Amino acid sequence: MPAAKKRRKRAAKGRSRRSAPAASEKKLARALEKIIEEHLGVSGALIPVLHKAQRLYGYLPEGVIRRVSSGLRVPLSEVWGVVTFYSFFSTTPLGRYQVRVCKGTACFVKGAQRLVDEIVRRTGVEVGGVTDDGKFSLEVCRCLGCCSIAPVVSFNGRIYQKVAPKTLGAILDGCT
Ligand code: FES
Repeated sequence: MPAAKKRRKRAAKGRSRRSAPAASEKKLARALEKIIEEHLGVSGALIPVLHKAQRLYGYLPEGVIRRVSSGLRVPLSEVWGVVTFYSFFSTTPLGRYQVRVCKGTACFVKGAQRLVDEIVRRTGVEVGGVTDDGKFSLEVCRCLGCCSIAPVVSFNGRIYQKVAPKTLGAILDGCT
């Protein structure tokens, strides 16, 4: 193959690689618009729209929050209020496995902090952060509503009850 043709081919490859994230951004933006359109004028639509947006993006970036606000014509302060009130919304990127350790009173007295420490030790994730490989994110929250089986840890919404530091290894190993 002539050198010039090879160079053109390499350049085209580079362009398509660079434009891939922009293309997927556009796709996400279109999907978000569709969600907003479907809920426009529907009362109580804010939380379902935020849920769908979070599922789409993996979290709720500021730009998405602003778009939901303007798209649904809900004041930005109200949208922020909802996002920050409910622990299931996140404004930071989440891991493939979203780990939540309950540190409500019942869980706290039954050793929730030791569970946090063990997860940090085993995965290297920080509270409020994501592992470098994007596998785990870790958050602490207040009362998951199942105090009688404290301490509890949630993995992608699945609740594990009466968790002890030594049983966390098996749970984490099951996250493939
Ligand atoms: S305090 Fe943890 S579930 Fe209620």
